[in-house]
Amino acid sequence: MSFRSLRPFEVIGSIVVLQRKENETTDHLVNRAHELLNLKNVRTAVVQSSKVDGVERTRSFEMLAGEETLSTTHKVYGLSFSLNLGEVFYSTKLSFEHFRISKTITSNERILNLFCGVGGFTIFAAKTDPSIKVDSIDINPHAVKWARINAERNGVADQCSFYEGDALTIPTKKFAMATFDRIILPLPLLADQALLTSLPLLKKEGWLHYQCSIRLPPKEDYSEAALKHFENIWQKANFPSDWAYELFFSKIIRSFGPRINHMALDFKIEKS
Ligand SMILES: C[S@@+](CC[C@H](N)C(=O)[O-])C[C@H]1O[C@@H](n2cnc3c(N)ncnc32)[C@H](O)[C@@H]1O
Repeated sequence: MSFRSLRPFEVIGSIVVLQRKENETTDHLVNRAHELLNLKNVRTAVVQSSKVDGVERTRSFEMLAGEETLSTTHKVYGLSFSLNLGEVFYSTKLSFEHFRISKTITSNERILNLFCGVGGFTIFAAKTDPSIKVDSIDINPHAVKWARINAERNGVADQCSFYEGDALTIPTKKFAMATFDRIILPLPLLADQALLTSLPLLKKEGWLHYQCSIRLPPKEDYSEAALKHFENIWQKANFPSDWAYELFFSKIIRSFGPRINHMALDFKIEKS
């Protein structure tokens, strides 16, 4: 049995997203979809018909059963996120990470979230305390549109600023050096490049939430490999010699396949 055929379905708001199992017939898939419409609050069943792809990290879907819509509102940890699944990236597998990071934030922080999507990290962070301000960037205009709607509906719009464009160039144009207490880089594909351009914007002491994808043979230690990966990027970056990092926490967020894991690492950064 392949890894793909083990994937469970995902419920995002009122939409259940199925993955077609290996060799599964359309009739079987549609039967599964009708069964899943019995789940509480589920009104639409779709099958994912492409990989997460492109700069905007979106995926395609085909309707299977129920109401024909890709728009929904997902409720999680007391917050609500509205979105259209065809327009933006959204995964419930990141919800705990949104929540976890928000619990590490203290009052009066100014935070930069570089690949904000529909606002998961941003809104969880802003909700922790009204003194917190978050600047967020995404290249997908739909993501920025939904993130603004979500900030409004969760009552934190006055704490959040959203910018549409390239997170690799906007920060240095928009913000002064040493502006932020915390930087979040939630896109493994671009985290290494974004680290180079955004780290100068962190204050003398600050926090960095970094993500990477690590492929390893069985039984190897993913946290060690992720830290080595970061060390390598840090060395190549040629940051000033009195800048230092300390790893406080690392975890596997999710698996992309057998032996490929999406990792989260929290670093304390000091610039003495
Ligand atoms: C994995 S998704 C973000 C998920 C989001 N952080 C969350 O927690 O739900 C990656 C996001 O990065 C955005 N993106 C990709 N390249 C970008 C770039 N160069 N600048 C800004 N945003 C970018 C995509 O549009 C997408 O919304």
